[in-house]
Amino acid sequence: MKRLVIVANRVPDPKERGATAGGLAVALQDAVNRRDAMWFGWSGKTAEATAAEPSLLRQGRLTYATLDLGDSDYRRYYQGFSNGSLWPTLHYRLGLAQFSRDDYAGYREVNAAFAGALAPLLRPDDMVWAHDFHLFPMGAELRRRGSRQRLGFFLHVPFPPPAVFAGLPRSAELLADLAAYDVIGLQTEDDAAHLRAALAAEGHAEAAERVSAFPIGIDADAFAKLAERAVEKQEMARFRRSIAGRALVIGVDRLDYSKGLPQRFSGYGQLLARYPEQRSRVTYLQVAPVSRGDVAQYQALRRELDELVGRINGDYAEPDWVPLRYMTRPVPRPTLAGFMRHARVGLVTPLRDGMNLVAKEYVAAQDPADPGTLVLSRFAGAAPYLKGALLVNPLDPDEIAEALDQAMAMPLKERQERWEPMAAEVREGSARNWCQKFLAALEG
Ligand code: G6P
Repeated sequence: MKRLVIVANRVPDPKERGATAGGLAVALQDAVNRRDAMWFGWSGKTAEATAAEPSLLRQGRLTYATLDLGDSDYRRYYQGFSNGSLWPTLHYRLGLAQFSRDDYAGYREVNAAFAGALAPLLRPDDMVWAHDFHLFPMGAELRRRGSRQRLGFFLHVPFPPPAVFAGLPRSAELLADLAAYDVIGLQTEDDAAHLRAALAAEGHAEAAERVSAFPIGIDADAFAKLAERAVEKQEMARFRRSIAGRALVIGVDRLDYSKGLPQRFSGYGQLLARYPEQRSRVTYLQVAPVSRGDVAQYQALRRELDELVGRINGDYAEPDWVPLRYMTRPVPRPTLAGFMRHARVGLVTPLRDGMNLVAKEYVAAQDPADPGTLVLSRFAGAAPYLKGALLVNPLDPDEIAEALDQAMAMPLKERQERWEPMAAEVREGSARNWCQKFLAALEG
């Protein structure tokens, strides 16, 4: 079997395998366990200058190769162009995008540095699989250094309609870069159609033919087990006591403006305002670990949410009831799985999202004998796959309130009828299948 070289800005911590690892690491675990593999990317550390050679760490058949980033490269490549320009553009938010030529130069330089450090480590029959928007130019940089390996690219986030992407300065160069990859994967058919059209419009018709949708998934059985075990724990018993028989609504998201959190909180506020009888019945727990806290828009969002939570709790709280519990600290995955299993409603309302694995995790975590209801944004990549959810427009707080009210009242039979096909879909569209399909395409 060919060696697999995974390139991603984030490389998983070699100590964190199994239940504590992040989404991509979990999704790729199976592929990595079966063959020789290498994870290549940023070490997560900054230094005075970007390292020319990676640090290597071997763990059985897997090698971790990581580079420290220079402070200025970190600012320009990661904070600046990746998170300040590309992230908002790809999430249809051109109005939030900032652009500077210096950031863009830093983005290209780090991609060139990655390729320069990776090229000498490559063997002729390796397969290289690059992940996400940080690495548009990496494949082209490898080709410039003589790489003839098969090069694959997967975009985890949405790709907007061509006219939106064209609003980003230098977007035509980025499309030309993407054309260097042999297989280009997107989350949904819509994303794939957008990218094909953008490539074709820039004269890369042949590259457009190499674009396909490969919707990412989770390991549903493993997550279900995690959830089942978690609800048996002491910690969950304490939590259950603390909500005193009220139905739990759960939200779990990085603290990101793409997740629609202000509108979601307003939607919950509307539920309490318009359906006062729900006040004695519900508690909403939102876990929103701080993310990219050194980027201005994220700081502004955090202030906005602090204020909204204060307002909603101030308006509706009782001495013995906090309507909205809000945590910005990360919570371990097993505990989250337990919250999800216990929750009567999973509330997932991103304004745009590549796939949204929390929606799939909520489905996987449910007790088949008493499943909860998923309230899902129609603009999550997962929406076309999870047809039993109550779909909402995440910009409309009233619609969110109505869906919450409907979910709270939903009889067991309807909950089961909605949940069962979703559970089958989540099991089928597993992380393992995603990986195998992409790699089969990459192998050619
Ligand atoms: C999204 C992106 C990933 C990214 C993650 C966390 O899921 O698609 O590429 O790693 O957010 O963001 P961060 O900036 O902390 O890596």
